[in-house]
Amino acid sequence: MYSIIKSLHSNLALVLLFVLFAAVIYILIGFMGNKEFTASSKRIALAGLIAAHLQLVVGLIIYFISPLGIENFSKASMGNSMSRLYMLEHPLMMLLAIVSITIGYSKSKRAATDKQKYKLLSIFYVIGLVFILSRIPWHVWM
Ligand code: HEM
Ligand code: HEM
Repeated sequence: MYSIIKSLHSNLALVLLFVLFAAVIYILIGFMGNKEFTASSKRIALAGLIAAHLQLVVGLIIYFISPLGIENFSKASMGNSMSRLYMLEHPLMMLLAIVSITIGYSKSKRAATDKQKYKLLSIFYVIGLVFILSRIPWHVWM
């Protein structure tokens, strides 16, 4: 079970990064080029949101079954940068990233103009992407 969820989390991370990168580039081009907010714009933003939410669910599961997650949460682990990454920094930053992406999607959905929709998505999706990139355990992944 643990190994299945772990490889799912690892593969979904790749999908999420790919989709989010593509969405951010598309959104920034739309924003800077004053483009119309079309059905495709909505779809690509939604793809980023869904990938993020799926990874949230899988991440929460792995946090409770991995020996590196909640099981390793202790004062001693705080002093070890590797333990701290998995039990605290990675989950927390990823959660904040997904919250940012969700706020961006939700606010953009309610925005009045196309320019504003792109602007809100640009800000909140870029913050999400930066948070994610900052706390991926690159040394064991890729
Ligand atoms: C934006 C979403 C996320 C991305 C891109 C991401 C990415 C990754 C990657 C690449 C790994 C290393 C996998 C490997 O060793 O092959 C990992 C491990 C891990 N992630 Fe995430 N993650 C995300 C969200 C979360 C969340 C929300 C949680 C928990 C609440 C979480 C908990 C963990 C844990 C506990 C591990 C260590 C698993 C182990 O090796 O036993 N992740 N994550
Ligand atoms: C822990 C699990 C989850 C939480 C806490 C969560 C939370 C949220 C929140 C707060 C929103 C924002 C609604 C809005 O203001 O527009 C949202 C939207 C959405 N979520 Fe999740 N979600 C979770 C899991 C999932 C999963 C597993 C999927 C499916 C793959 C998913 C798909 C979506 C979609 C498609 C929307 C956008 C709906 C729309 O068009 O407005 N979520 N979610």
